[in-house]
Formats: sequence, structure tokens, C-alpha cells
Amino acid sequence: MSDFLRVNRDGDVAIVTIDNPPVNALSFHVREPLMQALVELRDDASVAAIVIACAGRTFVAGADITEFGKPMQQPELRAIVATLETIAKPTVAAIHGTALGGGLELALGCHFRVADAGARLGLPEVKLGLLPGGGGTVRLPRLVGALKALKMIVSGAPIGATEAHAAGLVDAVFEGDLTTHAVNFAREIARKGGPFTPVRDRDDRLRETDLAAFDAEAADLAKKARGLEAPIACAQAVRNAITLPFDEALVAERALFVKLVASDQSRAQRHLFFAEREAAKLPGKDIVKRRIARVGVIGAGTMGGGIAMAFANGGYPVTLLETSHEALQRGLATIDKNYSVSVTRGSLTADAKRERLAQFEGSTDYADLADCDLIVEAVFEDMAVKKEVFGKLDAVARPGAILATNTSYLDINEIAASVSRPQDVLGLHFFSPANVMKLLEIVRADKTAPDALATVVDLARRIGKVAVVVGVCHGFVGNRMLAARGSESEALLLEGATPSQIDQAFTDFGWPMGPFQMGDLAGLDIGWRNRKARGQTAVIADTLCEQGRFGQKTGRGFYLYEAGARTPVPDPEVEALIRDKAAEKGIAPRAISAEEIIERTLYPLVNEGAKILEEGIAARASDIDVVWVNGYGFPIGRGGPMFWAGLEGPAKIVERLDYWHQRTGRDVFLVAPLLKRMAGAGSWEAGG
Ligand code: 3HC
Ligand code: NAI
Repeated sequence: MSDFLRVNRDGDVAIVTIDNPPVNALSFHVREPLMQALVELRDDASVAAIVIACAGRTFVAGADITEFGKPMQQPELRAIVATLETIAKPTVAAIHGTALGGGLELALGCHFRVADAGARLGLPEVKLGLLPGGGGTVRLPRLVGALKALKMIVSGAPIGATEAHAAGLVDAVFEGDLTTHAVNFAREIARKGGPFTPVRDRDDRLRETDLAAFDAEAADLAKKARGLEAPIACAQAVRNAITLPFDEALVAERALFVKLVASDQSRAQRHLFFAEREAAKLPGKDIVKRRIARVGVIGAGTMGGGIAMAFANGGYPVTLLETSHEALQRGLATIDKNYSVSVTRGSLTADAKRERLAQFEGSTDYADLADCDLIVEAVFEDMAVKKEVFGKLDAVARPGAILATNTSYLDINEIAASVSRPQDVLGLHFFSPANVMKLLEIVRADKTAPDALATVVDLARRIGKVAVVVGVCHGFVGNRMLAARGSESEALLLEGATPSQIDQAFTDFGWPMGPFQMGDLAGLDIGWRNRKARGQTAVIADTLCEQGRFGQKTGRGFYLYEAGARTPVPDPEVEALIRDKAAEKGIAPRAISAEEIIERTLYPLVNEGAKILEEGIAARASDIDVVWVNGYGFPIGRGGPMFWAGLEGPAKIVERLDYWHQRTGRDVFLVAPLLKRMAGAGSWEAGG
């Protein structure tokens, strides 16, 4: 009856199949025929039961996100679900793949839900800065209880079919042909006879709610929201489901949804959703990718160990190479310990740990890398050492193997030029801890072959990374911009701000931590070594490092850390050191506002981003946002530095950069021509 929806009959059971690739989103062209079909089937006396199923790889993955921000065309999802609830004969949602957001809300409109054993169900709207706007906050608690619904809706994390069954969300779980099972299920239920109670009228689970326990849990979740409005609204909506009559709670949910969908935070999070998917797209769709069956990792230190785990977790066998047996054993022991922590925390079973560890082969002999299809080097950050390693790889790696470096700053073109196969060389810049952090900067060198690049972009997705392709420059996208932020953070210290005052301005903005807490966590010695290699200085950080204050790992850095603790304690010695250094430079301390801190650190960040875009180091402004949100903790509710620049007002940023450039003469404030054009044109694309 439509290109996107068909109705078939299996005897007296009607099967409505939504077919809207790739993820069966509830676009207008699905909603319209769906509504019509439901009304017709409701009124058709020859139909005893209705199954709603989906074609393709998944059940409905939600509302069509591309329709947000535009006038909503009728019928809306809410009306469809309400219509479903007027049907007296049994309705059954047959869920395979994922039932997410509006998809699960559609299923909640049915009397019954059956699922494939591999299905996942959830309400992830919060990740888009929203709450479920199709009745999810009011119906889910009626099935699974208020506390479980609260956790699911505020976290946005989906649950598996078995858990959903145990929780009461799903009525039966099947393996094999789901539609056939669903039809049989529906027929059997219809035969037994009704009445069938719609979810809206089931409130026995809600009546069990301990409101005090609910409020305590909600308060706990609110603390973690870090300035985001959506998690708070989600909790409020679920509370309404407990305290208000169904229809009133539904109206309240709608009001919250309307407010959130128009908010900058939700716009920012939706921008990031599409930005992450866009970043992984390369021109030339038909490139044949190289086969990757085994991965080699050189260096089992901080990064090498984590990188090896990332591949093993993604199902790839790994050969891990070190210079000595002792270093290798140390590296493998750390990996073992990390998996044990996961087992203790319950995120990994003991069996899964054994399977993961079985993926590793240790070696100290380069010849053992001969069967690897991708080899990632993670040795010391030293060009001579890297070239020596690549020289050895050139001798042993099989033809066509991809040779990658995890360098943070070094010139990958120079590394590539040192081997006989520069087309196979690229950068895979993982972030620490590499088995946890989502971001992967994939560095395309001048001679990198398109198929090598396409292969690693695909591989990144397979191991659960968010990949961004960047070009070669000092520090690539992330660390290069970080340097622009870092130099001003230090200047602010000398002018009178304290580390904790600056960090506080950052956390108030929504960052998980400020620059000094982050430096202490990562280790101040890394930046120190890098500055020394480039003949640069940062007077405060350098002095701290000279005193052996490397941050958390030495118990002292910009802050003090009590034995084993991660909580930074302001250190009067550091504050005295800052004042002394300022006095030596003849700088009189002054009061510095939070506004100035943000302006002085984040405007140069945006400015550097504009330079990176102009040079073609990043292909899109949104790629830079993906790097900063996934690699450096830029607040998701602000959409990344380049998106935020649009909200902040590019003209204002240009004006303030000019002002600070006149006052300080520093290059970080020298306005990028692209930023100036963007201020005139209104968007990065139009400016570029
Ligand atoms: N609307 C529009 N487009 C969507 C979409 C949606 N809800 N979900 C996915 N897409 C698009 C993606 O942008 C991508 O497009 P592209 O190929 O042009 O880049 C394509 O579908 C495939 O998506 P993925 O690359 O993400 O495919 P995966 O197989 O890796 O993942 C998925 C599938 C798990 C369903 C994942 O796409 C996903 O999480 N989607 C979003 C789910 C979601 O947030 N749903 C809630 C929406 S809000 C809502 O329902 C409001 C309601 O309460 C009123
Ligand atoms: P690390 O010092 O923890 O580990 C380096 C390891 O390489 C050591 O175990 C060492 O024994 C081994 N090694 C040295 N020379 C070798 C050789 N010739 N053959 C085999 N193994 C050798 O260093 P880390 O921090 O893991 O850094 C590694 C690389 O990753 C560097 O290029 C660094 O810039 C980069 N990087 C580091 C990040 C971090 O946060 N630590 C983040 C992203 C990249």
C-alpha cells in the first residue's frame, strides 16, 4: 500500500511491515500509511490480530531525527500510538535488531511485544538532548517499574531481549524466523480471547513505587548531568508518570519534549549524532578494502597495551612486540590486570577474559609480525626510534600490510619517506586509555593509498571507535588545538588566576575537568618533553616538572593528591610559585573573571580550528567537533568548539580575539581569515 509499508495476511492475522531503510525511522512517509493501515485493520472484522514488524536489519530505530526542527507533519507518533490503544483485538510488535526511541514507543502502544533473542530495546533520546516524546516516559514505567524505567531513560542505554523479558517489557523471546513466531503468538492470544489491556491502563507496577527511593535515585542521576537539561527532564517525566493520571503525565511529557527539542543543547547533540556518522565517510565508496585478519602492535607501554586491547576486544588476534622479554611480560601483566578489573566490576565474565587473553601472542622478534595485516607502532615519541622501527617493519611486513604509527606529534610524511612503501603508511592516533577512549584520529599522509585509508576507517568502526580522518601537521587536529588552549591557560596563571579558579570555570562550562586537572591526569612530563624537543617553554609547567611534579602519577602536579586518591587538592606552594614567576616577569596579579577565562582559552581554540580547516587538515568543521567531544571532553551539550562558535557569535569571537591580539601580540589571537569570513557568512561551509 506504500513503498514504505505493506500489509499482508496470514489467515486471520494481519502483518504490517514497515520498510524504510536503513533503520526504519518513523518518517512522515511511514507514519501516514501506518496510521491508515491501523485504522483499516481495527475496523476489519476478518482480522483477529495485528503484528507490526519491520523489514531489513532492524525494527524501528526511532523518530526520523532529520525532521526535528521542522514543522511536524500529521499524524504524529503520539496519535498513532493512541490509535493503537483503541484496537480491541490483540496487537503484537515483533522486534528484531533494535527498537529505539519512537520505535520502542510504537511497540509500547501494542498489547504485546515479542523479540528476537539478539534484539535490543531502549529509549536513547537523552543522548540527543531529548526525552521520549511519544509516551515512552509514561508507558515504560507501567511495564518495568518506575526505578528501572528511570535508569533506562536517563542513561539512554538499551537492554537486551532477555533482560527486557525478565523486566516485563517483552512477553516472549524467540530464535529463528521472528515474524512466523509473532504470527503464531498473536493467533494463540486471539484464540484465548480478551479483553486485552493496553499498557496505559496497567498501573500495578507503578503502585509499588517507593517514591522516596525514586527521588533519591533521581537526585543521584541529576548530580551526574553536568549542566545537561535532558536527563533532568527525563527524570521529571518519569516522576510525573507515578504521581499524575496517565493523560496529564502525557501532556506534561509533551511540554518537556517541545522545550527540549528547541534547545541549543539538543541541537548540539543532534549535530554531533550526524557529525560522527559524516566523519567516517570517505569519497570513493567503491574502494575495495584490504583484508585485516591479524594485527601487530609494537611497544607494550601505556598506549601499545591499550591499543592491543582495543583490537582484541574487537575480535582481532594481536601480536604484541617489545624490545625485551621483561618489557613484554610487564605489558602483558598490565593487560591481564586491566581485564581482571573489568571482571571484578562485572563488565566482563571470567570466560570472556580468558577468550580475550587467548587473542594475544607476545614476541620480541620482528619476524613474528610477518603474518600481520596491520601493524601499529606505539614506541617512544622519538623520530630516530620510529624510523628504526619502520625500517625493520619494511623488511619483515608482508606486501600490502598497513603500517601505522601512533605518534602524537611527529611528521608522518617523514616516517613514510623512510620506507620503501609510503603508500602503506598512515597514522592511527589513539587516545589514552586506548581501550576505553572512543576517538581515533586517522592521519592521512601525503602518499597514503586510498584503499589503506578506507580499510582503517572501516576497521575503526568494527572496533567501536569514532574515526576522524585528519591531515599531517604538528599535533594533528586535537593536540594542535590543545596547545593553543594550553598557552593561554598558563598566561592566565601568571596574570593572577589560580589553577583551581581556571578549572572551575571549565567545569562550570560543562567540561568534566579543567586544563590543569587534565594535565595532572595525563602526566605533565609528556608536554614537557615535547616542549623541550621543540625548544619551547611553559614557565610554570616546566618548573613543576623540574621539581618532579608530573601530576597524579607522582602525587603532585598543579595540585596535590593524597596517596592513591584522584581528588585534586589546591597546593599553596604552587600558588606561591606562580606568584614568584609572575613577579620575575614584572606581571602584577589582577582579578580574572570566569568569562575572561573562557574567552581567553576557548576563542583561541576555535581560531586554531579555523586555521586547521583552512589548511585542509580537517575536511569539515563538524569533524573538529567530533575530535573535541570524543577525545578531550568538550561538553556534548555545546556540540564541540566549532558548533559552539556558531552559537557564541563568530563576530563577537573575532572582535575579542582582535582585542586580545592588540593587548598581547600573541599569535593565538591572530584571527584566522576563515573565521573572519565565517563571521560574515554565518556558517563554516558558507565561509569556506
Ligand atoms: N533518524 C534519521 N536517520 C537515522 C536515524 C534516525 N532515528 N537513525 C539512524 N539514522 C541514519 C544515520 O544517520 C545513518 O545515515 P547515513 O548512512 O546517511 O550516515 C543511517 O541511518 C545508518 O545509521 P548508523 O550508521 O548509525 O547505523 P548502525 O547500524 O551503526 O546503527 C542504530 C543503527 C543503532 C539504529 C543507530 O543508527 C542509532 O542509534 N540511531 C539513533 C537511534 C535514536 O536515537 N533513536 C531515537 C530518536 S529520537 C525519537 O525517537 C524521539 C521520539 O521519542 C519522539
Ligand atoms: P611508553 O613509554 O608507555 O611505551 C613505549 C613502549 O615502547 C615501552 O614499553 C618501550 O619498551 C617500547 N619500545 C621502545 N622502543 C621499542 C622498539 N624499538 N621496539 C619495540 N618496543 C619498543 O609510551 P606511550 O605513552 O605508550 O607512548 C607511545 C607512543 O604513543 C608515543 O609515540 C606517544 O607520543 C604516543 N601517544 C601517547 C599518548 C599518551 O597519552 N601516553 C596518547 C597518544 C599517543
